[in-house]
Formats: sequence, C-alpha cells, structure tokens
Amino acid sequence: MEKTVINLHTKFQVGKVDKRIFGGFLEHLGRAVYQGIYDQKSAKADEDGFRKDVMEALKKLNISVMRWPGGNFASGYHWLDGVGPKGKRHTVRDLAWQSIEPNQFGTDEFIELCKKMKWSPMITVNLGTGTPEEAGNWVEYCNLPPGTRYADMREENGNSNPHNVKLWCLGNEMDGLWQLGHLPAEHYSIKAQQAAKIMKDVDKSIELVVCGSCSITMPTYMEWDRVVLEYTWDFVDYISLHRYVGNHNNDTSDFLAVTNSVDKQIEEMAYACRFVQAKKRSKKMVYLCFDEWNVWYKNYESDGKGKFAPHLLEEIYNLEDALVVSGFLNSFIRHSDVVKIANIAQIVNVIAPVLTKDDDILVQSIFYPFEMVSKRRDGVSLKIGLDGPVYESPSYGQTNYIDASAILGDGKLHIFATNRHLTAKIELSVNPSDIEITSLESAEILTGTNPKAANSFEKKDTVVSKEFEEIRISNGKAVCQLPPLSFAAITFKVG
Ligand code: AHR
Repeated sequence: MEKTVINLHTKFQVGKVDKRIFGGFLEHLGRAVYQGIYDQKSAKADEDGFRKDVMEALKKLNISVMRWPGGNFASGYHWLDGVGPKGKRHTVRDLAWQSIEPNQFGTDEFIELCKKMKWSPMITVNLGTGTPEEAGNWVEYCNLPPGTRYADMREENGNSNPHNVKLWCLGNEMDGLWQLGHLPAEHYSIKAQQAAKIMKDVDKSIELVVCGSCSITMPTYMEWDRVVLEYTWDFVDYISLHRYVGNHNNDTSDFLAVTNSVDKQIEEMAYACRFVQAKKRSKKMVYLCFDEWNVWYKNYESDGKGKFAPHLLEEIYNLEDALVVSGFLNSFIRHSDVVKIANIAQIVNVIAPVLTKDDDILVQSIFYPFEMVSKRRDGVSLKIGLDGPVYESPSYGQTNYIDASAILGDGKLHIFATNRHLTAKIELSVNPSDIEITSLESAEILTGTNPKAANSFEKKDTVVSKEFEEIRISNGKAVCQLPPLSFAAITFKVG
C-alpha cells in the first residue's frame, strides 16, 4: 500500500484560522431566498416566514458570516425598495437574473435571519446602477443610532437598535461585462474609493471589501487587481476573489487536482497585495476575501424568464464535487495568513449544499466536508511537510494523492486529509515532531462507491459522513488507512 506522512512542528505556524473563512452567501437568485430560506406559505415556515428545516440543516454548518443580497443581483438592487411595511413595497424586475423581485425579504428580514442563525451579516452595496451616496445611506440605516433620516427610518420599521453590520462589499464582480453597471478598472476604482470614503465617514468601524478579479480567466486578471488596489489601498481592508470549478473533461483525477490552482490563485492575489504594499511603502495590509467559491458547471440555467422564484442554477452534487470542496477548505486553511474571509456560494437551492422541493429538504454531498471542517476550526494553521506519492494532472501538474491541512487548537490537533486516488487506499501517518498525539477525540470520513455517487430526494444517504474508527495511535504518532476517493477530518488530543 502507498504511504503518505504528514510531518508537523507546532512552531511552524501559518496563522490563526479566521472563523470567517466558514462564511456563506445568500443571493436573490432563483429559489435561494423565496422558496429556499424564506417561504411564508410553507408548512415548514416559522412565525416570521423562515423555513425551520432549512435553518436546522444550515445550523450544522456552523456558518460564521453571511453575504447578501448578491452577487450580480446586488448591482441592480436599491435597498430602499426592501424596507418598510411589506404591503407598500413594490415588486420590481431583477435584470441580473431576469426574474421578479417582490421585495418581501429586505434588510430587516436579512438581519432577523442572521440573528436567528447567529451569522454576522456581510452586505454587498450596489456600485453598478447605484451611487456611493446610496451606499452611505444604507450604512446609516444599518449602523447609526436614531436621530438622523435613515437611522430614524430603521426605528420606524421596528428596529431602534442599530444592526451593526461590520462587513461591506464595494459592489460585485465589477470587472465582468455581464455586470449591471460594469466599469473599467480605473472608473470602478474611483467609484469604489468614493463609496468607501462616504461609508467609512458614516461609520468608521466598518470593514470594506473591494472587488478583485472575478475569475482567473478574465483578460484583465491581476492588472485589474493592481489598479484597484493602488487606487483604494488606504480605504479598504480586503480584496475579493471568486472561483467556480467543474469537471469539464469528465476526468476525476484532473478535477481533484484543481486545488493546486486554488492555491496558486490565492498566492497570486497575495503577491499583488504585497506588490502594492511595497510600492506604497505602506504598513497596512489588504487581506483576501474569497467571497464566492464552489463547484458549478452542470446547471447554467440563469434566465428567470420574468418569473418569480424560478429554478436557476440548481446543481446536483456528487462525491467528487464534495472532495473538491474539501480541497478549497484545505487551501484556505493552508493560507490562513492571508485568507481572512471566504463564502461558499451559495447556501440553499442555488449551487448549494441544501435543496428544497416543496416541503421536503435534501442535504447534498458538499454539505459534509464543510460541516466536518467548520466544527474543528478553532486554532492555528500549521505548515505541513507532506511526504507521499504524486500523480501528473494534465491541467494542474504534479499533484499529491493526499491533500491535507492541519489546525493546532487548545490541546488538540485537527487533521484534514483528502485521498484523491481513484482506486487505492493510502496509509496516512501523522507525525508531529515536538508534541505527542495522546488519544483520538473524534474522526469522520466521507466516501462513496464511485465519484458520481450523489444523494437524491429518493435516496438521501448515498454520500454522508460517517464515524472513522480505524485510527491507531502509538509512540505519539497516528496511522490510518484512507479509502480511495475519501475525505477524513480527525481530532487528536495532544500533549
Ligand atoms: O453565485 C452566482 C453568481 O456567480 C453571482 O451572482 C456572481 O457574482 C457570480 O458570477
């Protein structure tokens, strides 16, 4: 049997794992909001119209921050349409997804949902068809005490206490031609800088995310980022990255190696930040906010055809997709020094870990790696010295069969390991050099009979996490056998 050793030393640290890398994203798109998380007509709805079954499932993911209202939707959204008495709110056209938006779920409903779910809200302002002033007014509505126009409006709408929204995105994918109000880099940078100034003048405690390149395939990749960072450096705290991946060639080994390219994307953006920091001789750093990421390639249905809550982007996920999701999470942990926020896109129905059908709910394969890692997130990411077999991926080059990350917590060591081998078990040894593994606290494994295995409403438990028992500990080290196409999350006690 092939063997891989994970070598660790507790002094070789990458950085504290920011719990905000376990963020989510809820967009007014398809059936994500209406018929997803918010469905007043559902038998499963609570007294405020939120679906209890969806909330119960999502609670298990331990999500930290929630980005809203888009996405592309944000670039045509006027927040004033979505506040005040529900009967007086206008139904409008959403041009991003060619759908009907009834505005029954707006800022106050989003904040109510965040409170129920213990999520930190993260709002994307409209820098497409909207103005910097409108963005500043939204900050006032959310964060200032009563006494001025928009804060008073919030009070009149039933919320005298400020919502305290700390994280704000300065638009969405503004480098994309498809974006409502798309602008070239210099123009967007000026608009973003003006919005940032106004928004921070309203509340200087907020943190801002400026739009980075929305894809590594954009012709302006990295040049856009340089320009945007140079203009806005002193005004912003994070730059965004987006990434959607897919098994376009139906080659599982190649697809699983895409994590190499996620590592590269993160490192390139971190270098861009370093470059601008050096050029400006600045002491501050702009960090990375990976605020859209997932597998997405099977369902590109994106035209709502003028309907309310149409079925859009309802991707079905299988085992190989779940293993790629584990790779994204491993990559974020390995880059804890620079990646401070990340949002899986999205949370329900639209490219999501959870699907609804009438009053039924389905938990998809990609739910499990997120759950397995998110509950083990407290601590410091350790550098990993990986010693094991490799393969050649046509698209992403030399690839370790085992992809891994490690978090050192309080008396605990969490190991995350994905076996990308299609057919062979791999023996995994965990070998810390300056501490001893004393016992096993918990371990789970996610695997399946083939890469395309998926859960369905008829058979919901085809790809689910299970307890992982076959772990041996001796002389302060641990050994286990990882089945082919599997992901393990293991927590050891260490001393
Ligand atoms: O998440 C779906 C869409 O993907 C978002 O609206 C957009 O930002 C991205 O292109």
